[in-house]
Amino acid sequence: MLQKITETANYLRSVMKTQPKVGIILGTGLGNLATQITDAQELPYETIPNFPVSTVEGHSGKLIVGKLGGVDVLAMKGRFHYYEGYDMAHVTFPVRVMKMLGIETLLVSNASGGVNPDFEIGELMIITDHINLFPENPLRGKNYDELGPRFPDMHAVYDPELVAKAKAIAAKHNICVKEGVYVGTQGPTFETPAEYVYFRVIGGDAVGMSTVPETIVAHHMGMRVFGISIITDLGVPGKIVEVSHEEVQEIGNIKQPLMTLIMTELIQSL
Ligand code: HPA
Repeated sequence: MLQKITETANYLRSVMKTQPKVGIILGTGLGNLATQITDAQELPYETIPNFPVSTVEGHSGKLIVGKLGGVDVLAMKGRFHYYEGYDMAHVTFPVRVMKMLGIETLLVSNASGGVNPDFEIGELMIITDHINLFPENPLRGKNYDELGPRFPDMHAVYDPELVAKAKAIAAKHNICVKEGVYVGTQGPTFETPAEYVYFRVIGGDAVGMSTVPETIVAHHMGMRVFGISIITDLGVPGKIVEVSHEEVQEIGNIKQPLMTLIMTELIQSL
């Protein structure tokens, strides 16, 4: 694995015109942040050695290297989901590569279903913690001590300082943000009503099919992580209706400018 990461990082270093310290992973329906990136250099995944290729509808896979709010960033438009059939090593491979390229801070976004009864569709939730319900931990297997510890501490995975800064940015712009615990599940099924209740009971505020593997791997390697979710549907008893991938994308689309604003100012504050 180490050899592949190094190979890919070496390739990217040879083609990238800048050396960003900030990485961004754009979730379902949230790719429009990418349109705000200036001086953009686009690198389709299929041109990058060892990179998996993204398949799911709503994701076009490419790395975008450029400036967001004047700051050098490397953004992933399109991520690799476990439900697509990738194993955890592939799902998290780009994050490993980011670290090797010198990325210190990772911003992740996603669409999720709210299970907190105080949440409304279209609201933003700053992720303060997660519950990993994926069937496999991405760190399972041989540990590469040069990347991070065998048994990583997980008490503050979502950087509290970044959470505080993001809340202040949102308040300044009168953007209503919630905060809460993201439950990561493998999908591809959305939840049954009983499962939504279960996720609430165990301490979740929102549920989705991504983010947790990438965050674990980033944290393992000592990167600072900030996560934000757009609540695209509600798994709250009495409010549960049929949900589709198209609706998830649509709500994401409508709300992404607010998320982009928060992320941009957060990056500028680093
Ligand atoms: N469940 C799981 N993943 C999701 C949801 C949901 O309700 N909404 C968006 N992604």
